[in-house]
Amino acid sequence: MIPFLRRKGPARREEPAGLDLEKLPRHVAIIMDGNGRWAKKRGLPRTAGHAAGAETFRTIATCCRDLGLDYLTVYAFSTENWKRPPQEVSAIMDLLERYLKESIEKMERDHIRLAFLGDLSPLSEKLRELCARTEKISRGYSGFQANICLNYGGRDEILRAARAMARDCAAGLDPEDVAEADFARYLYTRDIPDPDLIIRPSGEVRISNFLLWQSAYSEFYFTHVLWPDFSKKELYRALESYQKRSRRFGGI
Ligand code: IPE
Ligand code: IPE
Ligand code: MG
Repeated sequence: MIPFLRRKGPARREEPAGLDLEKLPRHVAIIMDGNGRWAKKRGLPRTAGHAAGAETFRTIATCCRDLGLDYLTVYAFSTENWKRPPQEVSAIMDLLERYLKESIEKMERDHIRLAFLGDLSPLSEKLRELCARTEKISRGYSGFQANICLNYGGRDEILRAARAMARDCAAGLDPEDVAEADFARYLYTRDIPDPDLIIRPSGEVRISNFLLWQSAYSEFYFTHVLWPDFSKKELYRALESYQKRSRRFGGI
């Protein structure tokens, strides 16, 4: 396969003038929010908003790949989203199934590796099987990776990590020997660098239990645009804003 480098060649040329392709973030994360309000505004059922949101994910993931980013992580279903009416939860799960079936078919062409972050155990057997199959195929490729957070909660992730570490300590690991980087190995994101930029559309200005550990030094970008309306142009805007920031990580 063709490796996806930070290319400027004509094949995928569509980059905006204002972006410095040498200063792109490695890892962008997005809280895909606003599907329900998007549907309501159009007099449609909330499910229609989730379907439109899935299409937006495809567009934005492709755009991130083409720009040469290494990772895109999206929040698709939180540990708190089970509180929603059961019909909405099952509609989201059905949509995910359909989405993954399509993605498996398109993987060969799209070269977008998919991985799942979260506790998949409460999902249906069918969905778990699709996630496993998708990840297995993805392991055969290299390059851009999209991480889908499914039944993901930042607190849940940290608690699971703490439990796993406690088990290792009971088996002889000295807690004093555990550095931040060692603890991070227990998280779902163990092999993934922290997100450089976190985008939240839909006008909400909160983290909603997303990547709590990993976002310690992430840059944030908030917009009122609802996720199904989030376009490449919006992504470029967020990246331009990111490029104007001075990241100090506590230094000067
Ligand atoms: C995000 O959109 C999708 C999920 C949380 C599954 P919402 O469904 O939260 O949309 P709003 O926030 O109600 O508009
Ligand atoms: C965050 O959105 C979760 C996802 C996008 C999957 P929510 O709509 O669940 O967040 P709150 O309830 O507005 O904080
Ligand atoms: Mg919401």
